Amino acid sequence: MRVLAIESSCDETGVAIYDSEQGLLAHCLYSQIEMHAIYGGVVPELASRDHIRKSIPLIKQVLKEANCTSDDLDGIAYTSGPGLAGALLVGACLARSLAWSWGLPALAIHHMEGHLLAPLLEDNAPEFPFVALLVSGGHTQLVDVKGIGQYEVLGESIDDAAGEAFDKTAKMMDLPYPGGPHIARLAANGDTKRFLFPRPMTDRPGLDFSFSGLKTSARNTILKCKEQNSSPSEEQDGELTSQDKADISVAFERAVVETLAIKCKRALLQTGHKRLVIAGGVSANKVLRQKLHEVMAKLKGEVFYPRPEFCTDNGAMIAYAGCQRLKAGQKDGDEIIIHPRWPMDELPAI
Ligand code: KG4
Ligand code: ZN
Repeated sequence: MRVLAIESSCDETGVAIYDSEQGLLAHCLYSQIEMHAIYGGVVPELASRDHIRKSIPLIKQVLKEANCTSDDLDGIAYTSGPGLAGALLVGACLARSLAWSWGLPALAIHHMEGHLLAPLLEDNAPEFPFVALLVSGGHTQLVDVKGIGQYEVLGESIDDAAGEAFDKTAKMMDLPYPGGPHIARLAANGDTKRFLFPRPMTDRPGLDFSFSGLKTSARNTILKCKEQNSSPSEEQDGELTSQDKADISVAFERAVVETLAIKCKRALLQTGHKRLVIAGGVSANKVLRQKLHEVMAKLKGEVFYPRPEFCTDNGAMIAYAGCQRLKAGQKDGDEIIIHPRWPMDELPAI
């Protein structure tokens, strides 16, 4: 079974071809980050227009790289949600049209299922069952995963997602979008003793998250630093110094990482699973990975994550998920349906 996939849920156009026997044959990605960076965040209409421009050239490119034509394909998978409605429509319309004209089955794939299964693209793939920590720009979820489509959401963020909190905090410090990698880079030179931010919702039972209070702590600290740095003297301009930014970054990163680690440990003890998967953009964070290695060593378990380029949005994860589901005989009707909101536990098992 050989599947072409299109990912267009947000600000990255990802296309890939996955073969159930030979693995990943080709993948390519066009990131719109530069275009959105000047606005400080994703502009949905611009995202949709750019997906229109980039999708077909990328499809031609992966077919060439995989050394195949449409005749060698057995199905098409595309991200149908959750995500930006216009951006999703571009991928969905294109995928469905190609499937119709090439006489292939097509299948709508859940973006977060793609992230969740991304570590299965690696050589050291986890076996089921496992606990998955999904940490992206739009979602923070802990999921009990018993198999493909057998997902029980154990907890999620009641307000900002972890990645969103990184991005908003970075914006308050005038760092470029998306802020997560910039905070991570600055944190490496930060003084861990200068600021201490709260570990939200860790003092009560449960597996839900909340990151908006943490963001407020960061905002208050930023304002205080700016106030301290403003004086009539010419050297102090009321802006954050690079040391302030590094110190706030390390305090913020530590608070997010420790909060996520505490909840992961709880979810593992609750389910009895010995494997933890982390996926989504924030799973690229090295401090988070290190912390979760420590947690899993104590629990005598193992942590799994995708290579960095498959932590953030990509077509390979959608091709993998699509291949597993199409191979199991699943396919959609001819209608073009997108799901800007789509609970994961509604997905069918295979
Ligand atoms: O999964 P993703 O590419 O897109 C969504 O599905 O949302 O995740 C993007 C998010 C952004 O919020 C970005 O700031 C964050 O992942 N991110 C990171 C790092 N790399 C990306 N956050 C913290 N540390 C990183 N190294
Ligand atoms: Zn994503």
